Amino acid sequence: MIDVPVNLGSRSYVVTIGADVLSKTGRLIAEVGRPSGVMVVSDRKVARLYAQSVLSSLADEQMHAELFVVPCGERYKTLATVRRIYEALVKAKMDRTSAVVALGGGVVGDMVGFAAATYMRGVDFYQVPTTLLAQVDAAVGGKTGVDLAQGKNLVGAFYQPRRVIIDTLTLKTLPMRELRAGLAEVVKHGIICDKVFFEFVRENARHLLARREDALREAIRRSVEIKRDVVQQDERESGLRAVLNYGHTVGHAIEAATGYVKYKHGEAVAVGMVAEALIAERGGVTEESVLEPVRDAVCRLGLPSTLDPTISAEDLLQAMELDKKVRAGEIRMALPVRIGKCSVFTIERSNVLSALREFCAIGG
Ligand code: NAD
Ligand code: GLY
Repeated sequence: MIDVPVNLGSRSYVVTIGADVLSKTGRLIAEVGRPSGVMVVSDRKVARLYAQSVLSSLADEQMHAELFVVPCGERYKTLATVRRIYEALVKAKMDRTSAVVALGGGVVGDMVGFAAATYMRGVDFYQVPTTLLAQVDAAVGGKTGVDLAQGKNLVGAFYQPRRVIIDTLTLKTLPMRELRAGLAEVVKHGIICDKVFFEFVRENARHLLARREDALREAIRRSVEIKRDVVQQDERESGLRAVLNYGHTVGHAIEAATGYVKYKHGEAVAVGMVAEALIAERGGVTEESVLEPVRDAVCRLGLPSTLDPTISAEDLLQAMELDKKVRAGEIRMALPVRIGKCSVFTIERSNVLSALREFCAIGG
């Protein structure tokens, strides 16, 4: 079991990573606080697989715990579901001294975190992420929220968990496509902050895809540390935290241009990282070639590196404009200077368009 501390003053917490830590959830929560009651919120799929283990471990610590199950999927990450969570909390007589546990992927983590941030003006909240994406990204750093019909994550709060509990064994049941989507965020951490880690991911792509526990544990540990280091310096994204968005400017545009159904978020980010490496090179911000190593890593992880030919550079730029990413003919985006270092740059719209045209012409 490894503990990664996140130092944010009075909002500090520990991220615990290990095999079978789920069955120790009760003890790990008891080390932080003694809630008067615990509401475990999970989605249908994850609840069926893992809720019993969490509930038993809470019972072992003599904690009164209840389970509330929400439907699976991004389309339920809404205020309507948050309202149902509030109602379940009231019905179970949870008060200011109670705690909420988010057991599931990033959808559950974001939404339950927001419910915890706002129920009775804030109750203790524990993250127990069960997708690789949530373990290496969503569960760490305190961004919580829900979607509106007008856009993703439009309502939310910065609200840090009291502890994050990552059981690497939960990844055994994760569908392959979800595992790969998480690996896109893992390799992103290497590209933006740590060349040695980037090489580790490239060299261990086979083991990661084969779900070797030691490789996954190391990938999660280093990803959490990298995200932690960024969040500690810029908790509320006033500057530096934007480097975590590498691959996401084009990635979000791909998701929007394809109606959020064709690509999983991590897949769109993978294509976005390759496109943005090309934008970085053509924009003259790179000190060395980044395009080929980024493309190679993405391919080794079995992620897409080229775009569906039905999407044009113009479609992508239009989606970026709707996303308010383009202002006064310029676009601000996190770009790699070299593998292991990323900064935020302002690139002219015309330069982004010509790089995107070149990228689209490469095809699949
Ligand atoms: P998800 O939560 O929808 O989970 C994907 C699917 O996997 C679901 O069907 C779920 O039931 C299933 N699942 C989860 N764990 C499983 C397991 N161990 N075994 C089998 N099936 C399992 O999706 P996600 O990719 O984890 O999260 C995406 C969400 O995360 C988005 O809403 C995104 O906005 C958010 N996000 C937030 C942050 C942040 O900083 N807060 C960062 C990145 C992403
Ligand atoms: N996922 C990017 C962030 O947490 O800032």
